[in-house]
Amino acid sequence: MMRILVIGAEGTVGKAVVAELGRRHEIVKAGRKSGDLHVDIADENSIRAMFAKLDKVDAVVSTAGHVHYGPLASMTGEQFKSGLLDKLLGQVNLVLIGHSFVTDGGSFTLTSGIPDRDPVRQGANAAAVNGGLGGFVKSAAIELPRGLRINVVSPALLEESAKKYEGFFPGHETVSSARVGLAYAKSVEGALTGQVICVG
Ligand SMILES: NC(=O)c1ccc[n+]([C@@H]2O[C@H](COP(=O)([O-])OP(=O)(O)OC[C@H]3O[C@@H](n4cnc5c(N)ncnc54)[C@H](OP(=O)(O)O)[C@@H]3O)[C@@H](O)[C@H]2O)c1
Repeated sequence: MMRILVIGAEGTVGKAVVAELGRRHEIVKAGRKSGDLHVDIADENSIRAMFAKLDKVDAVVSTAGHVHYGPLASMTGEQFKSGLLDKLLGQVNLVLIGHSFVTDGGSFTLTSGIPDRDPVRQGANAAAVNGGLGGFVKSAAIELPRGLRINVVSPALLEESAKKYEGFFPGHETVSSARVGLAYAKSVEGALTGQVICVG
């Protein structure tokens, strides 16, 4: 049995992760306001404080992070930067700050999403952030110490989120939360590293 930190555990994707991995492992849930531990991944000091409160974990899963959705023609640099600082740098900082708190042979699993491989209108910031996460895990995998692994899961729109994103993903097939949960199990319990694990 592993001890797994899930940041964003009470969210839509996080619940899919906990439903799958929680059957076999101890889950420590973290969120901005929800969960056992509170953290804002956009704030390095908050990440440091969270890891300081934890004993070691065998795996870190992040299903947290916001991007800016909006039309390209009116998008500002500040709006674009908000996604870079939150979903991209926030998840990168979980690795940069957190790796010494993960046991030998443990893993990080981050979350991106479909817009960089199947673009939609208003999704330029999401695409850049998701593509950046893919590049980061590919490179980080070759130099993480102590046999640590790292992957990013890139889900299509979840069935549970179809209403929330109505109109944003025309023609896209949704995926079940069970399928999404399995992708995180593949990353945490399997042997892959440096991979973008696509669901849908
Ligand atoms: N839902 C989908 O269909 C889908 C598909 C592909 C990719 N994704 C990606 O998956 C990620 C999660 O999406 P979701 O739909 O599950 O979102 P969600 O339902 O809004 O849940 C987000 C979770 O992350 C936590 N969180 C948000 N910002 C945080 C921060 N700065 N620091 C720490 N925790 C934070 C929230 O905690 P609190 O509740 O305590 O605020 C919540 O538990 C996003 O990056 C999204 O782009 C989602």
